Amino acid sequence: MPSLITDRNVRIIEVGPRDGLQNEKVSVATEVKAQFVRDLVAAGLREIEVTSFVHPKWVPQLADAGELLDLVLEPEGGRFSVLVPNEKGLDRAIEKRVGAIAVFTAASEEFVRRNINMSIAESLEVFGRVIDRYRSEVPTGFVRGYLSTVVECPFAGKVEPGIVADLTAKLLEMGCDEVSLGETIGVAVPSEVIEVAKVVEQVTNHSKVVWHFHDTRGTAIANVGAMLERGYRSFDSSAGGLGGCPYAPGAGGNLATEDLVYFAERNGMVTGSDLALIAAASLPVLEALGRPMMAKSQLAVRAACTSP
Ligand code: HMG
Ligand code: MG
Repeated sequence: MPSLITDRNVRIIEVGPRDGLQNEKVSVATEVKAQFVRDLVAAGLREIEVTSFVHPKWVPQLADAGELLDLVLEPEGGRFSVLVPNEKGLDRAIEKRVGAIAVFTAASEEFVRRNINMSIAESLEVFGRVIDRYRSEVPTGFVRGYLSTVVECPFAGKVEPGIVADLTAKLLEMGCDEVSLGETIGVAVPSEVIEVAKVVEQVTNHSKVVWHFHDTRGTAIANVGAMLERGYRSFDSSAGGLGGCPYAPGAGGNLATEDLVYFAERNGMVTGSDLALIAAASLPVLEALGRPMMAKSQLAVRAACTSP
């Protein structure tokens, strides 16, 4: 079968500073986070989710969000995003003039309740108000909508693809510029992701969809491959493979940005970023957390350097 890949540019949304750190027991010093963000920009990444304006009691690791944003400069031609759970979070994002906000819900009632203490319907109501206000106060701002648990919920099990498509359509109608579909717990294989994609494609086109894979069981890159073949070009990933969701038990690291870059470029595609610099950016953070490098492409480089 001929490959469907025609457009060679792959867009990476780096979520390491936010998704990578929100679930860690150890809080990383603000200056270490700031350097991480600066190094990711220097590595060529243009869209970076820097932090969250969520409740600091719920996610203490990101309690320094405002302070961190004061220490970093949005890249030219790119943007920073911050996670915003409600109008209180929006007030904080507007005060900092962040280039993009990300609202977040899920395709499972159980998950949304535990994550943001709302029902799905309540979350859409709250985010409708958040998006309207953001649009009127920051007209040039960009809005990401996250939809988590698009294949399976850690609490409620398998998710019906039709629910994913309905909620994707609603988030776009409400004014999201794109929807990031989260395979939050890293269980899915390509056939399951394709099943979701086919239904979502009935309500929107590829350019409005981003895929957000976790690599808990080593299937993330296979899912990227399947979605590239299907014509998708935007992916969330996390430098060093940092991450997991505090309200998704067992959700291992996000897809490592290094592995995404390696896979895309080895396939003849262009990411505009430098794999070695991305890996170097994540090292001080991994060290602060006492964690090993999780990007497989980097482990291979190191093994080659140290073997006799
Ligand atoms: P709540 O306790 O229900 O909030 O939390 P509330 O509205 O009842 O307010 C309680 C108190 O919180 C009040 O203060 C508010 O002012 C304060 P008090 O009067 O008691 O002093 N408050 C805030 N403070 C600072 N910033 C705010 C804020 N909002 C209220 N924004 C809430 C509801 C949504 C705030 C809480 O549940 C929360 O912050 N949750 C965030 C959880 C989170 O960050 N989860 C991880 C997200 S990652 C994810 O979902 C998956 C993703 O990565 C993709 C994937 O992998 O699938 C995106
Ligand atoms: Mg995630």
